[in-house]
Amino acid sequence: MKTSSKKRRRKENLVVIGAQWGDEGKAKMVDVLTEQVDIVARYQGGSNAGHTVVADGRKFVFHQIPSGILHEGKKCVIGNGVVLDPLGLLEEMNSLVQAGVKVRNRLIISDRAHLLMPYHRLLDGASETHKGRAKIGTTNRGIGPAYMDKMARVGLKVVDLLEPAYFRSKVREVAKEKNFWLKKYYGQAEVDADKTADAYLKIAPQIRPLVADTTAYLEGRLQAGENILAEGAQGTLLDVDFGTYPYVTSSSASVGGVCTGLGIGPQWLDEIYGVTKAYTTRVGEGPFPSEMEPDFGEKIRKRGGEYGATTGRPRRCGWLDLVALQYACRVNGFTGILLTKLDVLSYLQTISLCVGYKVKGQIIREFPASLRRLADCRPVYKEMKGWKGDLSSASRVGDLPAEARRYLDEIEKTIQVPIQWVSVGPDRAQIFQKP
Ligand code: GDP
Ligand code: IMO
Ligand code: MG
Repeated sequence: MKTSSKKRRRKENLVVIGAQWGDEGKAKMVDVLTEQVDIVARYQGGSNAGHTVVADGRKFVFHQIPSGILHEGKKCVIGNGVVLDPLGLLEEMNSLVQAGVKVRNRLIISDRAHLLMPYHRLLDGASETHKGRAKIGTTNRGIGPAYMDKMARVGLKVVDLLEPAYFRSKVREVAKEKNFWLKKYYGQAEVDADKTADAYLKIAPQIRPLVADTTAYLEGRLQAGENILAEGAQGTLLDVDFGTYPYVTSSSASVGGVCTGLGIGPQWLDEIYGVTKAYTTRVGEGPFPSEMEPDFGEKIRKRGGEYGATTGRPRRCGWLDLVALQYACRVNGFTGILLTKLDVLSYLQTISLCVGYKVKGQIIREFPASLRRLADCRPVYKEMKGWKGDLSSASRVGDLPAEARRYLDEIEKTIQVPIQWVSVGPDRAQIFQKP
């Protein structure tokens, strides 16, 4: 009997997860770690992600295509947990091909992934406008409405796109309900069901060759001794269960999403890496206890280039929040931390580390479930001495100034998870492993 055992394992399977509110530098880490695996697989989210890789001076931003695609000879999988915008995907593939990156025969899309439809985007925008000041600040890519349809059991899957008659009838049926909301509730224009179906069916022949049962594919490759890297989008604090709900995305960005989003068992997951910046950023609305004063935040934003890779929005900047990071370590069971953007903190006199929250006169070290309570939390800082010197060419921990090493030690001491890689610049070469 064939079982999903680890018997034939040669190397290790990796998971890369955002430990904060997204944009931690996951893509850079995925690009670097792709050397160690055969397949890179995205397990959730959609085109809300903006994943930047800087390779030999060239910058690439991926939205749906896994960040391992620059490594020829490695396969990339879009798992069933992703909500796929097929039009956006083709655009992304074309721009990669134009940049000289081979994509065909390397990209495999799950037949079970749900499709992101044009009405999802319209509903996302309409819902945000309707909420006014209470908006979530979404990326306006239709992500929430697409996952709503999946859970409401009215979604369309990639496999449905391959059955034109069924696809058209289903789009007509679902569009009726969407038009009710668009017109009657939001007072917006309706969608034309047949035009929507036409646009998707027109590109179906281009999508068809990429489609496969990716759970069978991944299991087969794993059994054959190959290794995968599961690439997360967004981050733990944007996870629909563990994040700062309702200011979250609509998927499971944390470790549980890997199994449901790829259809592989947890026994295959070896290293669970959490990616954190040396500070914190967040795009969109919602509480952010360690947010910096606006002028200081602006300074870090400029130094760190903190503008959304998908929407171009300025990211809110804050100090590293160890209460939140410890919480992320717990809910994901991180085996290691990948720390990025240490270079951005150079030349500061002092660096603050958030080690607790003060709320109603009490000091707490647990990340609260209640958003009202979180909004009342004031950060308790441990002040660390900053360092002078450019870190961007550091290639081992010994190259770092003593104060920078102390900063890393303090983080490790608090979270009790080892920092395994340190990134000191956007380029794939600006990184080193920490013993
Ligand atoms: P992701 O969504 O987690 O993949 O991260 P983004 O691509 O949205 O944002 C991370 C940004 O930081 C990108 O512009 C990266 O090129 C850049 N970056 C990644 N690591 C480093 C680093 O160590 N130092 C600096 N200065 N920039 C970095
Ligand atoms: P990557 O993968 C940072 C945020 C949005 C908003 C909330 C909900 O690049 O780290 P959505 O469009 O998902 O319904 O928006 O989540 N958000 C991200 N923030 N990085 C991302 O992706 C994000 N994807 C969504 O700003 O606050
Ligand atoms: Mg990003």
